[in-house]
This record gives sequence, structure tokens and C-alpha cells, in this order.
Amino acid sequence: MDSRAIGVFDSGLGGLTTVKKLLECLPGENIVYLGDTGRVPYGSRSKETIIKYAGQDAEFLAGFDIKAMVVACNTVCSVAYDALAANYEIPVYEVVSAPAKAAVEKTKNGRVGVIGTAATIRSNAYRAAILKLRPDLQVCSTPCPLFVPMAENGRTDSADIAALTIAGDYLYELRKANVDTLILGCTHYPLLRGVIAKVMGPEVALVDSGAETAKMVADDLLKRDMLCPGGTAAGAIKYFVTDNIDGFSALASRFLASEVSGMVEQVEIE
Ligand code: DGL
Repeated sequence: MDSRAIGVFDSGLGGLTTVKKLLECLPGENIVYLGDTGRVPYGSRSKETIIKYAGQDAEFLAGFDIKAMVVACNTVCSVAYDALAANYEIPVYEVVSAPAKAAVEKTKNGRVGVIGTAATIRSNAYRAAILKLRPDLQVCSTPCPLFVPMAENGRTDSADIAALTIAGDYLYELRKANVDTLILGCTHYPLLRGVIAKVMGPEVALVDSGAETAKMVADDLLKRDMLCPGGTAAGAIKYFVTDNIDGFSALASRFLASEVSGMVEQVEIE
């Protein structure tokens, strides 16, 4: 048993969709969340910049004596995970391999789609993770750069014409490729699930990277006997952001799909 907190970070608030799933699996855990809201998005930046930012994010969290870290950002996991994880002795979880495995298990026609930021798609991390498990599958990937600002700005309603038009354009090739399973390879994208589902159609299974990762983290911490003692009592969450906290609660509650309780503080991590 280990009552220390789990550290979770993302470039912005997208990682809160992973926190939401973590809390569903592990309601008693204490969480320290860092959203690098002052520098989001990472997905359009160079590999060198993403590595530098991710290193600063991880160091900030490591200062809290956490028992494990979840890198709730597909962009960071796709380009910087190995170097980052090597710096820590605690378990550092990434958000790519669990959804890749889930998609491999779900597909029936052998065609898997992946959407993510430009950096995630350029890295080919998902393609490699899927083909490692099933080299015979067809993987069709496409970047959706506007999805992150749409999620952060609340343009996520499945009746929003602008959102549907943008999604229709981004997802056109994937529909043409007849994928039956689509990985939402960015922790911001679950907010757009309704829009994406409407464009892709009901026969396409959507795989949420945060949800799959949360299950993996819960299983692994249980195996290591590192869960928090204390039964079902709700754990505490501390939020840190690198930009102004105005409007944080309203925005964060959309990503968490519940009211935000717990402290929020603006910090300097550079
Ligand atoms: N939420 C991040 C991810 O999962 C992307 C957001 C960004 O571009 O910073 O990739």
C-alpha cells in the first residue's frame, strides 16, 4: 500500500479526461495534476521543444514525492517518453500502448484509424505499437490540429456546424479507408467524442487513450501493491497550471465532466 499521490501532466487540460477515468477506476487515489496551460499546444512544436517542456513538467511533479507519474499527453508520449521515463525510479505510465492494444483487440475488419496532434502522427508511435502486436493490420492516421483549440474553447457540441465541418474534413480519408476502429490519440479528443462519432458513424468503435490507460495504471498499481489504503474515501486533487487560473474551474469541469473541487494554483516551471 502507498498513500502518496499519483502525478499526472498534460500540455493543457486534456489530461483531465485521463484523470476522470483514473478516478473512476481508483476513486481513493490522491492526484497532483499539472496542466502546462501557458504553453499549450505542444502538438505543433518541434521534438526538441516537446522534450524540453515535458522534462520541466515531469520535474515539477517529481518534487511532490509522488508514487507514480502518468504522462497524460499523447504528444509527449509519442516523442519523448523513453528519455523521460529513464530519469525516474517510480513507474511512469504512457498513454499510447494501452489504446493500441485495445484497438487491436476491437477491430474486426483489420483497419484501424488513429487521430492525434501533428507531432503524434508524425512520430508514427501508434502505427509502431499496433503493428508490433498485429503486423497484418492496416493503420490509417491523420492529424487533427484544430481539435485541441476546439476542445479548449468549448466548440465540442455534436450539433455545432463548425465542429462538424472541420471533423468531416479531417476524418474524410479515414471514412474512405473504411476503418472500423478509431483511436482518439489525444487526451483532448474525448470532449469531441459526439462530433467524431457523428461523422464516423455508429459502426466505428472509438478508443479513448485515457480510459484504456487508466485501466492499465489501476491494474499495474494493484499488482505492485501500491494502491492507496483507505477504502472508498475520495482522494484529494491538487491542480497546478502555468497560466492564469481565471476560468479554470469552468473549463476544467468540462474535461472532468464534474465540478472541480480542490485547490488550483498558478506555477512557474521553466
Ligand atoms: N493533450 C495532448 C495530447 O494528448 C495534446 C495537446 C497539445 O497539442 O498540446 O497529445
